[in-house]
Amino acid sequence: METEIAPQLERLQADILAALAAAADPAALEEVRVRYFAKSGLIAPLMEKVGQAPKELRPVLGKLVNEFKTKVNGALEERKGALAAVAESASIDETLPGRPVPAGSLHPIYAVRDRAIAIFRRLGFALADGPDIETERYNFDALNTPPEHPARNEQDTFYLADQDLALAAGGKPGGRLLLRTQTSPVQIRVLETATPPVRIVAPGRCYRRDEIDATHGIAFHQMEGLVVAEGVSLADMKGTIELFFRELLGSDLKFRFRPHFFPFTEPSFEIDAARPGTLVRGKEWLEICGCGMVHPKVLQNAGIDPEKYTGFAFGFGIERIAVLLHDVGDLRHFGENDVRLLRQLSEVV
Ligand code: DAH
Repeated sequence: METEIAPQLERLQADILAALAAAADPAALEEVRVRYFAKSGLIAPLMEKVGQAPKELRPVLGKLVNEFKTKVNGALEERKGALAAVAESASIDETLPGRPVPAGSLHPIYAVRDRAIAIFRRLGFALADGPDIETERYNFDALNTPPEHPARNEQDTFYLADQDLALAAGGKPGGRLLLRTQTSPVQIRVLETATPPVRIVAPGRCYRRDEIDATHGIAFHQMEGLVVAEGVSLADMKGTIELFFRELLGSDLKFRFRPHFFPFTEPSFEIDAARPGTLVRGKEWLEICGCGMVHPKVLQNAGIDPEKYTGFAFGFGIERIAVLLHDVGDLRHFGENDVRLLRQLSEVV
């Protein structure tokens, strides 16, 4: 009996596996299932025979049957899965547009910064950089800022307590380490290492101990500009700065150069700009930039001969420009990570 059933099981198994492999679609597979696996299928009679086999043969036959069942049931499921996967991939419409991959976008402040850089690049300016943690020498002394200048006051500047660190960073003994209050120290760092002609912009973060309000933050961004060469004049300065701001903010921009004081430039100016017919925070004229001719002492401090070279410098707050550009009433909005504002004002890169 066993010798009769075992080869039958084997043959049936081979038939089933071949039939499953040949079933090319779900309908064909269903036919195979009905032919073999259904109640009235070809497996059932053989199982009946096993049931009727003498008791002593049952353990051996049981094992064979289990193996058989595992094999054919597994093969049926596998074929089902394979055909389903084929059906699914066949139903993909390749003409449909892909799912959009969300692209990152630049924060509005950095978008303004990059637009400014792009304009200056076209004008032949290179990019320069300096550290956020500066020495008193670079931030004040070399920029001709006297010890009694109010900006050096601890109420205005964040000083770092670590004296050893200050010395390691190249500060003079007693010279303190601070968070730079302006990007102007980059002027000195560049002039110390470069030989004129020099034409750079240096965007970066600055820090001040200000009361935080709609127009002041304790961390903000500036962009510094410096041109030093032979025969650079005030006319060059005016032409360059006006061209830049018209390019950034609109060709109809009007300017007002007001005499001002900065320790590192002489003469110095503050520039107000206005767009005809536009008020920003109720005002027609808005202060947008400080500038001037580089003070001979600054050139000297950086090892440049002021008899041979002249230059101009300028610096502006990037947040201020972003406020103007986007007509945002309060620069604190830029730091709040409100995605609604960011979505509106960011530029996709
Ligand atoms: N550093 C100045 C400030 O933070 C801005 C400035 C004014 C920069 C005049 C300059 C300049 O380079 O020439 O207020």
